[in-house]
Amino acid sequence: MSAKAEIGVSGLATMGRNLARNLARHGHAVALHNRTYQKTKDLVDHFSDEGTFVAAESAQEFVDSLERPRRIVLMVPAGAATDAVIDEFTPLLEQGDVIIDAGNAHFLDTRRREKALSEKGLNFVGMGVSGGEEGALNGPSIMPGGPKEAYDALGPLLEDIAAKVDGEPCCTHIGADGAGHFVKMVHNGIEYADMQLIAEAYDLLRKGLGLDPAAIAETFRSWNAGRLDSYLMEISSEVLSHVDADTGKPFVDVVADEAEQKGTGRWTVQGALELGVPVTGIGEAVFSRSLSGHRDLRDAARGLPGTSGAVLEGAAAEGFADDIEQALYASKIVAYAQGFNQIQAGAVEYDWSIDLGAVASIWRGGCIIRARFLDEITAAYRRDPALATLLADTSFSEALAGAQDSWRRVVAVAAQLGIPAPGFSTALSYYDALRAERLPAALIQGQRDFFGAHTYRRTDREGTFHTLWAEEG
Ligand code: ATR
Repeated sequence: MSAKAEIGVSGLATMGRNLARNLARHGHAVALHNRTYQKTKDLVDHFSDEGTFVAAESAQEFVDSLERPRRIVLMVPAGAATDAVIDEFTPLLEQGDVIIDAGNAHFLDTRRREKALSEKGLNFVGMGVSGGEEGALNGPSIMPGGPKEAYDALGPLLEDIAAKVDGEPCCTHIGADGAGHFVKMVHNGIEYADMQLIAEAYDLLRKGLGLDPAAIAETFRSWNAGRLDSYLMEISSEVLSHVDADTGKPFVDVVADEAEQKGTGRWTVQGALELGVPVTGIGEAVFSRSLSGHRDLRDAARGLPGTSGAVLEGAAAEGFADDIEQALYASKIVAYAQGFNQIQAGAVEYDWSIDLGAVASIWRGGCIIRARFLDEITAAYRRDPALATLLADTSFSEALAGAQDSWRRVVAVAAQLGIPAPGFSTALSYYDALRAERLPAALIQGQRDFFGAHTYRRTDREGTFHTLWAEEG
């Protein structure tokens, strides 16, 4: 056989195909494999002018076509398919070869697979890839986990094909075993929260001020020129200015208002519950999508009394759009702070060493939550890598101080006008709860001690206490 391929990709649906093309475009010889050979053949037939591809019909042929240590990227559906493909390749591989799962695996599956393969002398890398089809082709944000040794063999290739911001690749070794998939999961959770907050801002501008979608698109465009500059803000204004060709109506008005989800947001919240991390912004985002899809509940509740649909007018409307911008920025800070706390807690629980500043930095390009704002997060963790919460960093605490009058007004007006704003509200409650001198958790401890003798600690003495409620009255 002629020269061997540097890396192989198995699973050539859209994402796998685009990753393979990205690698080839960067001058790397790529071996190709797919369960059904036709997809392999199609790729070579259409894109062979982009670089060097080595098409393999069988797993054995694929493995034989790779230089050592072999680097095999799997891009197949998470779950049983991933296990099936790993089982197919494992007996064909040798000590030190690297299997990279670039699918959306649950990080606990990745931990299990890494353990099993390391016992066989193979390196397994669970790798989060964000940016969709377009990112895979032109530069995604890449979050590889697994052993450091595997990253040494793989990193240069990945950094080559990743998105670049200020000349830096949006790829770094996240940490051992499932750390990459864990961080990718939280990334998706944060994405849910960010999308929800933008959607609430839209709803408030529309129902609170009576603006039409085109005007809101303009407002978003102006926000996108400032500190809210982000891909999600940009595409939201694109969607809002889009007109449905069939009806001539704003596109957003002809779309069924039931948000769907594939499940990574739910995983994030489930994981946060296990870790005891209050990711209330992500939680509200996931629940809001569920609520929107409950047509039965919405139909049953439609006639319930509420507000009349009045909009703000005159002096009351003055400055309200700016207030929403402030509330959006403040709530976004909270949502990201919560997500980063989940990564911190995951690192402690699973014994990963994760550089939070580097995580924020590799999300600046390629991925869906790419935003200018992430530079601030990197800077905050560079100032203090052990920062307990991003809210306590000076740049964010000052922004929150500046935003809070507006933030409170927006949440209050939303309640008065009957416009649901769960993301904004929960973010403000979280902020107020964290900064409170005393929380009503003291009463909850009293209740628990009363009905279940669960005991409590005191503010003035060490130790654990129980009150004999019946006797002490
Ligand atoms: P699509 O994205 O086209 O809907 P998919 O079902 O998500 O496809 O599968 C993505 C890729 O994983 C495909 O390359 C698929 O191979 P086929 O082209 O032969 O369908 C591959 N794949 C899915 N399940 C697999 C399995 N159990 N074993 C091996 N490859 C599998």
